[in-house]
Amino acid sequence: MGVRQAAASRDKIAALKEPCSAKMKKLLYQFDTDTLPSVFDNVVGYDGGADHISAYGGVNAENVGALVEGAIFTRSPKDKKNTAVFLGGSNMLQGEAVLMAIRAKFFAKFRVSVMFDCNGSNTTAAAAVAWLAHTCALTGKRAVVLAGSGPVGQRAAVLLAREGADVAVTGRRRAGIQAACDAIKTRFGIDVEAIEAATNADRAAAIQGAHIVLATGASGVTLLDAKQWQENPSLELIADANASPPAGIEGVGLSDRAASSHGKILFGPLGFGALKLALHRACIARLFEQNDLVLDAEEIYAIAKGMVGS
Ligand SMILES: NC(=O)c1ccc[n+]([C@@H]2O[C@H](COP(=O)([O-])OP(=O)(O)OC[C@H]3O[C@@H](n4cnc5c(N)ncnc54)[C@H](OP(=O)(O)O)[C@@H]3O)[C@@H](O)[C@H]2O)c1
Repeated sequence: MGVRQAAASRDKIAALKEPCSAKMKKLLYQFDTDTLPSVFDNVVGYDGGADHISAYGGVNAENVGALVEGAIFTRSPKDKKNTAVFLGGSNMLQGEAVLMAIRAKFFAKFRVSVMFDCNGSNTTAAAAVAWLAHTCALTGKRAVVLAGSGPVGQRAAVLLAREGADVAVTGRRRAGIQAACDAIKTRFGIDVEAIEAATNADRAAAIQGAHIVLATGASGVTLLDAKQWQENPSLELIADANASPPAGIEGVGLSDRAASSHGKILFGPLGFGALKLALHRACIARLFEQNDLVLDAEEIYAIAKGMVGS
């Protein structure tokens, strides 16, 4: 046997003797409260480093327990970091209930890392607010989140308030937007003002005296006409999360990133969406570094702050 063959044979034997964890697949369990698990979350899960993803729809606080047991009891303590959970879905309250049920199953070393990102709520809000805070200090500013009752809007309101802004959120019906503010208060202990604003004219009135406007309405819904922000003298920063035409805020470009217009600084959905995607992938990668992470608003925002502008 030549020197090369002998070396190759030694390498093969060494590989066989390697501890199990070196070859262990990174398994991501994608739980979704909606019937059909999100394709977006599935793709980003692979791009973030998962070797295999099992996606489950219709997950709720009652049926998630058995799934979690399968994840926590199957691998040795040192190998558990190769199993992780991603939790998504369009209903924030249901998602939070499932997250609580997942955490209730963990004990001692029997746990795996979890990322919570209902409808991209944490990663999208974190990317948008991180860019706004990177552009100027938000302390003492008045921020209005338009159509803020959805998952993205709720998380954005929280992060803006954590940056020191005085925050209001609008919704078409008083009951719906007040329920979102109550949920924010319950989860984060933060007071956010609820403003009923059913029309573009109502929303234009709601942003009088505001410095920051962030639109987080449903896809393809225009919440503000161009003139309504262009002629508002107090506005400094404007961001729109909606990437499906027409724009959520008329006149804000899809790819605007700190673009100047009418004396305001604009961010479009793709302008901060690049950070959202990079952040989502980075969070998935972190899940496989240790087995005891819970990545929710606070943790994901901290990661976003470390990535923005770099
Ligand atoms: N840029 C990115 O990287 C990125 C990533 C993820 C998501 N997004 C976008 O972020 C936005 C927010 O996502 P989400 O999941 O939080 O949204 P969502 O839950 O679908 O909608 C948010 C709110 O929009 C309001 N709304 C619905 N239909 C409306 C209408 N016809 N007129 C006025 N308001 C209406 C509703 O509030 P009320 O019923 O209280 O009025 C709803 O709670 C979406 O446009 C989504 O596509 C962007």
